[in-house]
Amino acid sequence: MAKNLIIYYSRKGENYWNGSIKNIAKGNTEIVAEFIQKAVGGDLFEVDTVKPYADDYYVCIEEAKKELRENARPELKEYLEDISEYDNVFVCGPCWWGTFPMAIFTQLEKLDFTGKKVFAVMTHEGSGLGNCERDLKKLCTGATFGEGLAVHGADASKSESTVAAWAKKSV
Ligand SMILES: Cc1cc2nc3c(=O)[nH]c(=O)nc-3n(C[C@H](O)[C@H](O)[C@H](O)COP(=O)(O)O)c2cc1C
Repeated sequence: MAKNLIIYYSRKGENYWNGSIKNIAKGNTEIVAEFIQKAVGGDLFEVDTVKPYADDYYVCIEEAKKELRENARPELKEYLEDISEYDNVFVCGPCWWGTFPMAIFTQLEKLDFTGKKVFAVMTHEGSGLGNCERDLKKLCTGATFGEGLAVHGADASKSESTVAAWAKKSV
C-alpha cells in the first residue's frame, strides 16, 4: 500500500478572516492537513520556525514579505531528513504573498524527491494556489505532480468532505 506523508506549515494567532482580523487557536492549514490524514492515512510533519512570526497580523505580513523578497530560508525547530519510505507527499501551507511561507522552502530543499508524487495544498483568502505549484516544481526535483487543492482558509473547518474526496482520488 502506498505511504503518504503530509508536510505542513500553519500559523496560529491573528489572521485575516473573510475581510477582518480574527484570532484563531488552530491554523487553517493544520485543519486541512489533518483532514487529509484522516481520509487517506499517513504521517504528519509540522514545519515550524525557530524564530516565531509576530502575532500581530500586520507585522507578520511585513515579516513574510521581507523573507520572500530576500528569498530567505528561516531556520526550523526540527528537520525532516529522509522521505525514502514515502510514495506520496502532500505539501500544505498558507498562501503568503502568493506562495508558501519560506520555511516550507527551507524544509523541501533538504529532501530527495526522486520518484515521489507531490501534491500542493494551499489555504488562502482569495489567491487560490497562487504560484505554489510553480515553486514546488522548482523545489521538488525528480518528483511527479498531482493536481493541487486550494481551500479558502476561513472555510477550512467546513472543508472535510471536499478535502477527503480530493485526497482519495489523488492517491
Ligand atoms: C503573512 C501572510 C500573508 C498572506 N498572504 C496572502 C496572499 O497573498 N493571498 C491570500 O489569498 N491570502 C493571504 N494570506 C491569508 C492566508 O493565506 C490564509 O489566512 C491562510 O488560510 C492561513 O493559514 P494558516 O492559518 O494555516 O496559517 C496571508 C496571511 C498571512 C499571515
